Amino acid sequence: MESVVNVVKGKQLYEGKAKIIYATDKPDLYIQYFKDDATAFNAQKKGTIGQKGICNNKISTCFFELLQTKGIDTHFVKMLSEREMLVKRLDIVQVEVTIRNIVAGGMAKLLGLEEGIELKEPVLEYHYKHDGLGDPLINEYHIKALDLATDEEMHYIRERSFEINNILKNFLVDRALILVDFKLEFGRDAKKKIVLGDEISPDTCRFWDRETRKKLDKDRFRRDLGGIEDAYQEVLMRITGKK
Ligand code: TMP
Ligand code: ASP
Repeated sequence: MESVVNVVKGKQLYEGKAKIIYATDKPDLYIQYFKDDATAFNAQKKGTIGQKGICNNKISTCFFELLQTKGIDTHFVKMLSEREMLVKRLDIVQVEVTIRNIVAGGMAKLLGLEEGIELKEPVLEYHYKHDGLGDPLINEYHIKALDLATDEEMHYIRERSFEINNILKNFLVDRALILVDFKLEFGRDAKKKIVLGDEISPDTCRFWDRETRKKLDKDRFRRDLGGIEDAYQEVLMRITGKK
């Protein structure tokens, strides 16, 4: 049914750092518009990455479609245009889920570890979605005590997150990409069911080339490594086979 949904774009509801959310004439459907804007270090660093919005929309579409074929419920309905994705309206759980397969970024810093160490098993972290505090690390006790989600919801979120890691890792291996780590957001749909939201892109994942370990993600922007646009295009090309 959903593939034949036609909507009329409504008013802008929210503008985030990388996306804008619009209402539609259907109360349970929103439009997610992908911008070229990029920020890092809690928006202290700002810039734009040419064509990023288009790449991230296409890459996220590909990942959401893949996950849905594997039985993971997501907010994705369909791609509407190069920069617009039709999604289900979600009440977002204010917890970001990070899964790490290889030490990098925040984990390297937190524990004084070298980047690139292969973890014996994936590490799952929760961060409280709070820009003012820089999304601090929290655990399941905080989540329960602050009523951010129920035990049942967190159990479901945890299980799905590890499943998503396996699905994406396997998919990327064939495309010569290592899935170092990534961040997910979940929300409750109109029926209160937990589904995967947000985006899955080089903004929210770390991808390294399997042979050279070259960084092909937003770390090129965060760390001023250059070649940012090319890296996003390369990921799009490897994942979809198309520019
Ligand atoms: P971190 O190592 O900086 O904690 O990042 C872990 C993963 O989460 C990495 O793939 C990038 C992604 N991420 C976001 O999507 N949003 C953020 O605000 C941050 C800090 C990281
Ligand atoms: N997007 C985040 C921010 O600007 C940080 C990041 O992705 O590194 O706050």
